[in-house]
Amino acid sequence: MNPEMMKKIKNLARKQNALILAHNYQPPEIQDLADLCGDSLELSIKAAETSADVVVFCGVHFMAETASILCPDKTVLLPRPDAGCPMADMVTPAALTEKVKALPEMPVITYVNSPAAVKAISTVCCTSANAVKVARSLDTDELLMTPDRNLAAYTAAQTGITIHAWDGYCPYHEQLAPEMVSQVRRRYPGAVFMAHPECRPEVTAMADVVTSTSGMLLFASQSPHTEFIVGTETGLIYPLEKANPGKRFYPASEKMYCADMKKITPEHVAETLAHLSGEVRVPEEIRNPALSAVQKMLSIR
Ligand code: 13P
Ligand code: SF4
Repeated sequence: MNPEMMKKIKNLARKQNALILAHNYQPPEIQDLADLCGDSLELSIKAAETSADVVVFCGVHFMAETASILCPDKTVLLPRPDAGCPMADMVTPAALTEKVKALPEMPVITYVNSPAAVKAISTVCCTSANAVKVARSLDTDELLMTPDRNLAAYTAAQTGITIHAWDGYCPYHEQLAPEMVSQVRRRYPGAVFMAHPECRPEVTAMADVVTSTSGMLLFASQSPHTEFIVGTETGLIYPLEKANPGKRFYPASEKMYCADMKKITPEHVAETLAHLSGEVRVPEEIRNPALSAVQKMLSIR
């Protein structure tokens, strides 16, 4: 990135006492200017722990909302307020209320990729990094999980719990088909296949490891293997290569490209910091119950 722009952003961040967070799928230049990069669980924890007055969240809307739920005393900024998550939009509080009425009483686990108002009517939240642990902690034979049907299927397979899955999905992870994985495997026969739990069950069943984005970063750096097929959004290839210079990473599919995750540019970050624009704030009547579901998740380590 242009060193002048980097300097400008760092100066603005210092002036505003701001912490810049970036999700692992963000464009390389955004990851390079951030104070911290991570998966959605790590970034929520960092937002909650920081002493900064301002948190600039380079990610998508539900991530900034989660930070706002956890830190109402901080100004949480999303440099592109239109950066959303199609999966998060697949569940609404009205639809979830209807579903809960139709089912016998059971806990509701909501993936953080969801609107704050849905978290507010859920028992507990989860991320891709802790879904299995959260489900086990509930000590139940049956539960409802929203909005990702694939994460629900993976959690059910790992825990043996009967999970009523919401019918949502990530359009980018959903399109990865088993035949595509087989084809890439034929091309790189020695490569280890890592899959995100948002992939279809037929795909996660083929994986050598199923884990969150930061789980993949940890696995690749600790593994004795040198070649990996990456079954998640292609943005993760950049931090994988940066952290593991001697290893090779191949996308399972070039089509796993989340347009919303690529909206933020360094200019947007500078603009947001200069004017404290793009604030995401969750109204108190939603924030309080949503906080209880998020805190319950964070207490399960
Ligand atoms: P992680 O929690 O693994 O970072 O995933 C978030 C996400 O949006 C995956 O598509
Ligand atoms: Fe949402 Fe999928 Fe983009 Fe993740 S990759 S933010 S789940 S649309």
